[in-house]
Amino acid sequence: MVIDAANPVPPLRPRPAGPGQVPPHVPRELVRCTGLPYGPEFLVSPHDFMANMHHALPPIFYDVTPFCNAWQLIKHEDAVFALRHPELFGNEGASPFPRDPDDYFYLLPVEVDPPHHRKYRNIVDPLFSPKGVLALEGKLRQLANDLIDRVIDKGECEFTTDFGRPLPVSIFLDLMGLPQDKRDTFVQWAINLLHTQDRDLMVSTMKLVTDYLKSVIAEKKAVPDEGVISRITHAAPEGKPLSPKEIFGFVFFLFIGGLDTVFATLNNIWLWMAENPERRREIIARPGDIDDIVQELLRRWSVTFSGRTVLQDIEMRGVRMRKGDRITCVLPACNFDPEVFPDPLNVDFDRPRKTILAFTVGVHSCMGAHLARLEVKIALQEWLERIPDFSVRPGARIVYRPGGVVGPELVPLVW
Ligand code: HEM
Repeated sequence: MVIDAANPVPPLRPRPAGPGQVPPHVPRELVRCTGLPYGPEFLVSPHDFMANMHHALPPIFYDVTPFCNAWQLIKHEDAVFALRHPELFGNEGASPFPRDPDDYFYLLPVEVDPPHHRKYRNIVDPLFSPKGVLALEGKLRQLANDLIDRVIDKGECEFTTDFGRPLPVSIFLDLMGLPQDKRDTFVQWAINLLHTQDRDLMVSTMKLVTDYLKSVIAEKKAVPDEGVISRITHAAPEGKPLSPKEIFGFVFFLFIGGLDTVFATLNNIWLWMAENPERRREIIARPGDIDDIVQELLRRWSVTFSGRTVLQDIEMRGVRMRKGDRITCVLPACNFDPEVFPDPLNVDFDRPRKTILAFTVGVHSCMGAHLARLEVKIALQEWLERIPDFSVRPGARIVYRPGGVVGPELVPLVW
């Protein structure tokens, strides 16, 4: 079905969830209950867990969870195939965000497939192009140094709240045209939506975010500015203004998609650098290789997943999937596929260049990828220039956040 984002309809099929809702065509021997991405074993060390999936699990299996049962693709080749064939694996209904069926909207552009998908991307892509994001370089370096100024003489900081979060989130809020003084509230909302198993909390947070964003959209409609929200609000692709549902769905998705992915990535990388002083020194010693370094760190510490819905019956590796089944491409696991990345847990800045899946591939490849790469690069350069030696505060216990964006909750550092 080609969806009409101006007139959204809730998915007809309910999401199967829990052991009682495994469809009869799923072979019992392929059913698992791995706990990804909420279970205690996963949360001990999520990336080790996802690397180990290649040894502990079949290449395609059916995972049962309290929220959504789905086929899991962990092989690089399988995920690339699924992600590059939106006519076989579509995005409508692929996101688990709870929405009021009487006031339904699509998450744009991520829940719309070709041919309509491009018209949404065209509205904001120029701002997120390599050239578009380079315009932010000076601002990013300045902000990184301002944040470092605040902590450098203390000899310690909580990396997430002092640097990893404010750096990308402040830039993002400026880009969107949202107020900086609500930064912590926005982050908390995103965490409530992306990292909880508590449906009531998700639903009440959805209401707060919805009311807030609708009021911002009304403001931007009345008084346009240079930000992304204003640009979306006033867009008229092919001469036709976007409908209120399209505008809301687009702004809402950017809001949740752009807030915590970068700081989760930075948290993972800084924790690793704090625990591996010789590798940190290697990064400092190779300034000319910074792009390869960022690429390898993004492979090793990728943080999120791509969900899809099977659009027609299909067989992969002898596994028969039926129209309407859900799949999840476990992108971090694909980045650990030993057939593509030998010795996958090893951070190797000299790896031959291969497609990494941190930002997915295909039509839905991450719109913020150039910005995210630039942010990781500048964060590394500015931090290591001024704080080259640091470690995790002795006695600190690292706790990972459950949910769809993988990373430690806090990273306390000393130097
Ligand atoms: C390290 C940081 C980031 C990571 C790892 C990441 C990862 C991803 C992934 C895996 C997808 C594909 C989702 C799917 O297949 O269903 C995606 C899509 C997307 N991301 Fe990101 N993202 C990051 C940062 C950002 C930022 C900063 C923004 C916005 C400012 C952003 C905006 C988007 C948008 C709009 C899409 C949907 C693209 C489409 O459907 O055409 N991302 N991202």
